[in-house]
Amino acid sequence: MSPAPSKSQNEGSDAIALTVVRLVRDARQLVVLTGAGMSAESGIPTFRGSDASWWSRFDPQRLASVPGWKADRALVWAWYRWRIALIAQAQPNPGHRALAQLARRQSLVLVTQNVDDLHERAGSDVLAHLHGRIDALRCFACGTPYTRELPVIDLHAPDPTLEPPACPHCGDAVRPGVVWFGEILPELPWRASVEAVEQADVVLVVGTSGLVYPAAELPQIARRNGATVVEINPQPSALTAQVDLHWRATAAQALPRLLD
Ligand code: OAD
Repeated sequence: MSPAPSKSQNEGSDAIALTVVRLVRDARQLVVLTGAGMSAESGIPTFRGSDASWWSRFDPQRLASVPGWKADRALVWAWYRWRIALIAQAQPNPGHRALAQLARRQSLVLVTQNVDDLHERAGSDVLAHLHGRIDALRCFACGTPYTRELPVIDLHAPDPTLEPPACPHCGDAVRPGVVWFGEILPELPWRASVEAVEQADVVLVVGTSGLVYPAAELPQIARRNGATVVEINPQPSALTAQVDLHWRATAAQALPRLLD
């Protein structure tokens, strides 16, 4: 296990960068946990940040829950359809690409809360998508996967009355393959992620607010098992007080430096 560097190293960002580069270089088993901030520089808005999109006026809890779906499924579907289109036209950023490159050099396990496929498109293997995949559409009622093409939408003209497609099997509505608030995480990806952080000696937590459980438990589990936990985030988060080091930088700024 690597010793935890002191927090006073946060004073100089070059010093902290160097410390993290060394920690990562010497890591026996590196685990990287990513959240929405990872894809922010690919143009995908985070959930709790302020962005200029029409959709930022809505509370993510309202858009990402069964009660929200039951209250107004067209609104919820329109938001997800918009995100699906946004993700399809987005490209992995230098942070995604750096992680894929790093994994070719050393043992690296990647766990993400993101429901996009930008890690995969950058060339990474992802151990777990803890919150599912937005494009793994399935029927809300019978669970049958939905694989047909979706009608094209105009990204710049939000239509909150857009109805989801009907399931060809039972006729109910199709929903995105994400884990909503109040739903249980899929067991196997969760268990694999816990095992990964238990075995890690260094854990990088990139671009998450640390507000959504149980994913936010993973850094704590890692520390309890002796890992050094580093947060990469331009802002402090709910995790900052619990980590060993906070590197105040964006994913696309910080992660390529790990290849130095
Ligand atoms: P949040 O939107 O809660 O937090 C995003 C974090 O990324 C914040 O702490 C930002 O400061 C940080 N951030 C912003 N830009 C960044 C950048 N360029 N580089 C690095 N960090 C940056 O997103 P999550 O923590 O991922 O669930 O949210 C957790 C879950 O809540 C999501 O997986 C989602 C949501 O409901 C589902 O979609 C099922």
